[in-house]
Amino acid sequence: MHKVAIWGAGTMGRVHAGCYERSEEARVAYVIDQDLAKAQELASTCEARAMTDPGVALSDPEVDVVDVCLPTYLHRQSVEQAARSGKHILCEKPAALSAADAKAMIDTCRACGVKLGIAHVLRYFPEYEMARQMITSGDLGQIGTVRLSRVGPFPRGWRDWYADEARSGGLLLDLSIHDFDFLRWCFGPVDHAYARKVRNDRPLEYALVVVRMKNGVIAHVEGSWAHPGPFSYRFEVCGSSGMIEYDSLKARPLSIVTAAPTGGGGRGNGQGTDTGSGGGGGGGAPGVAVPESPLRDREPYLREIRDFLAYVRGEGIPRVLPEDAVAALEISLAATRSALTGKVVSVS
Ligand SMILES: NC(=O)c1ccc[n+]([C@@H]2O[C@H](COP(=O)([O-])OP(=O)(O)OC[C@H]3O[C@@H](n4cnc5c(N)ncnc54)[C@H](O)[C@@H]3O)[C@@H](O)[C@H]2O)c1
Repeated sequence: MHKVAIWGAGTMGRVHAGCYERSEEARVAYVIDQDLAKAQELASTCEARAMTDPGVALSDPEVDVVDVCLPTYLHRQSVEQAARSGKHILCEKPAALSAADAKAMIDTCRACGVKLGIAHVLRYFPEYEMARQMITSGDLGQIGTVRLSRVGPFPRGWRDWYADEARSGGLLLDLSIHDFDFLRWCFGPVDHAYARKVRNDRPLEYALVVVRMKNGVIAHVEGSWAHPGPFSYRFEVCGSSGMIEYDSLKARPLSIVTAAPTGGGGRGNGQGTDTGSGGGGGGGAPGVAVPESPLRDREPYLREIRDFLAYVRGEGIPRVLPEDAVAALEISLAATRSALTGKVVSVS
């Protein structure tokens, strides 16, 4: 039985804690958060100890896994601290704000002899798995174009850290990275990216990116933190022998779109947020929309965590290697640079 310390008791800390409890392979022993009340609230759901200082958890020899669910700008320092304490680490995506930081995290984990997983959960969504299987098996013939879209309300995290690009990296780094990782998983390396982005201080953010893969496939990636309705995602893949499309909204029995809610949060996906409800609309209640697959018997976050725990036990290689996370980050950073400069940016 793995003993886990969750570091960060916000939206993703709550999602991950629930998965460990359901996994039957692990139990959450500690919840660490700078806000003791928040740590206590989550700890009480899993009979864990709550604390603001990671010291006790990191020095407990029975803790083998630290799960970092902190805001992105804190990933490198917390991952390295956990690694130096000899813990295996699952860290939320994006790995870090820069490729240099992400590579340093990998190097530190390697030097400390611990395993690092970066939680690019899209690879565990059955819809995306099936699309990839059809792409790589040749069922669709030669792929020409791909359209990917991911839209939702502006996320409201602790102290509004998502709205500060210096702490979150902005939309292309935080949200569209899911789709960039999916493209790499299906088609290999990216050649270049061209992006346009609008942002205002309500705040709202919207971006369109054209990505050319090295194998010639052209992808069009849409990301939005300006959408009043429920969080949703879509894809369309066109090949010489056929095409597939998916729209998460069509998988819902009832879809409601309203203006920004007052007081109760938006209709996200019902998963935990800072207010206990779905993500708020632009300028609405706090919250971060967490994508959820309608195929409930194949919960992506639970499968991701089980895959990482198996890796910790030496029972396999996880679907997402830390190097994949660095590569996805490099695409996000190229797209961000393109949006800033108005130029096409090569991806190294
Ligand atoms: N995979 C996904 O689907 C998905 C979805 C949302 C967010 N994320 C990622 O998960 C990470 C966390 O995002 P979130 O939405 O859960 O954030 P959040 O704002 O909801 O929670 C962050 C928590 O960290 C705590 N915190 C801040 N500074 C701290 C410190 N120095 N020490 C201890 N605790 C501290 C805050 O009190 C808060 O409880 C981010 O990297 C984000 O990009 C991933």
